[in-house]
Amino acid sequence: MSKKINIAIDGHSSCGKSTIAKAISKRYKMRYIDTGAMYRAICLFSLQKNLISKDKIDERLLEAYLPDIFVEFKYNSEKKISETYLNDKNVESLIRTLDVSKSVSLIAKIPVVRQKLVLLQQQIGKNKNIVMDGRDIGTKVFPDAELKFFVTAKPEIRANRRWKELRQSGENVSYEEVLSNLKMRDDNDINRRMNPLKMATDAIKIDNSNISVENQNDFIFSLIDKIFKT
Ligand code: DC
Repeated sequence: MSKKINIAIDGHSSCGKSTIAKAISKRYKMRYIDTGAMYRAICLFSLQKNLISKDKIDERLLEAYLPDIFVEFKYNSEKKISETYLNDKNVESLIRTLDVSKSVSLIAKIPVVRQKLVLLQQQIGKNKNIVMDGRDIGTKVFPDAELKFFVTAKPEIRANRRWKELRQSGENVSYEEVLSNLKMRDDNDINRRMNPLKMATDAIKIDNSNISVENQNDFIFSLIDKIFKT
């Protein structure tokens, strides 16, 4: 495929953005970048350094550490997935725990953290052929992306999907806890001062509360095919 494009996927927490991005990545051989993983990795770093206590983060100390925090993705050819590395250590499963989910909004609202990660994301995408998911990809990271999606679903449906995933990975967590964490993250994402979650004016909205992954993907693939054909 000669034409090179970037695809931005934004939306609420746990609405299946990564499922869509991975399917696009596989079908069109585009590189998938999970920007949430980057914020999660910095959150993990902060937890490991005890910078977070009682819902408060020592922003000054984190800022001092920032130049020494390296987040990158490496492809695991055995598992056929890209995995997140924090300062050369594979943290792919550590960043997915509920502990990280509970504190990550604190990290995502810090302007210097966002500046660092947005810049890194723009560098990764400058040669195109990237599908990137997050909250501010279509509005801030790639405002000129060739295709933008804004994905959502009812909170109860998203929480139920996430709860099942967490239970499968061995976390002993209640549905209510997952739902309240998800609502809290939605609220923080929407009301954050810097780069809040909002739909880009030229994004295509997908509410997948009541549609199957297959139908959703078929719809998305048809739009991408159209771009490659023109
Ligand atoms: O997509 P996720 O749930 O793994 O994202 C983790 C957190 O990072 C989430 O609470 C919102 C934040 N985030 C963000 O502020 N901007 C992004 N581009 C991606 C994620």
